[in-house]
Amino acid sequence: VPRLTLPKLKILLCAPRGFCAGVDRAIQIVDLALARYGAPVYVRHEIVHNKYVVEELRAKGAVFVEELDEIPATDQPVIFSAHGVPRSVPAAAAARNLFQLDATCPLVTKVHREAEIHHKKGRHVILIGHAGHPEVIGTMGQLPEGSVTLIETVDDVGKLDFPAGTVLSYTSQTTLSVDDTRMIVEALSLRYPDIVPPHKSDICYATTNRQAAVRAVAPQVDAMLVVGAPNSSNSQRLREVAAREGCARAFLIQRASDLDWDALDGIATLGITAGASAPEVLVEEIIDAFATRYEVTVETVRTAEETIAFTLPRPLRDITDHGA
Ligand code: F3S
Repeated sequence: VPRLTLPKLKILLCAPRGFCAGVDRAIQIVDLALARYGAPVYVRHEIVHNKYVVEELRAKGAVFVEELDEIPATDQPVIFSAHGVPRSVPAAAAARNLFQLDATCPLVTKVHREAEIHHKKGRHVILIGHAGHPEVIGTMGQLPEGSVTLIETVDDVGKLDFPAGTVLSYTSQTTLSVDDTRMIVEALSLRYPDIVPPHKSDICYATTNRQAAVRAVAPQVDAMLVVGAPNSSNSQRLREVAAREGCARAFLIQRASDLDWDALDGIATLGITAGASAPEVLVEEIIDAFATRYEVTVETVRTAEETIAFTLPRPLRDITDHGA
């Protein structure tokens, strides 16, 4: 097909998109551990929710397991994923003398510590989050059983039933919808005016910024693609935000091969973003796929600058200091 006959497509790239500081750090921890200690390096759960990232690390010698009992007796490091783990996990690792490296995002750890403080002060903790997500399992597992009540929706607030005199506090998963969470928090504060809030929203900067960028771009495009995994909470929320902003064709895809060209028929403008665990190379792959069918122009719509970076766990710090 001669190039001149290609239809025009304007791509608006949401910024910020893709890797957050917590994901970046978690992947670096696995990479540096492999460089320093050699393969295998064990990783409990997908280090971040992205198949591409996991496969790349697996090719370098990372061994992914769901639970510690899948790991043989070893001196090699065992890394906990960015989502965080219940207290029982480091305890079990210590009991087996495993060499632990914790890749839990520091912003998740912050939520863990907050929950602990509430508990110490005698408050029951309400956790806003998605049942079954590893971060929720990790946060609930910071406190003794029965000390945390999970709610997922505004409706759940109506179903709460605590004995008179219960002092309440709340905290949330870091990757929720900013808008949904605001409504749940309003419902909670209405029902329990004395409930103790977190110092600052527990939804992290990366989640907030990526959703804001989608909100800015969605009304300007015929379709929106979110690059991310189906089990990635923050990616799912980005697709929802786009749909709510009136973008009827909002899709979550993992790779260019997932593109449904029929569903994208007739578009002239396209928004693209990526979840916090999706590498930029996948965004590039998708733009390249469009460039074979369209005369593509790409513009970036930036709604925030991000400069945050986290320090590495101590055993790995000196590696980067020496530039290895
Ligand atoms: Fe951390 Fe937020 Fe990323 S909690 S892992 S910075 S999405």
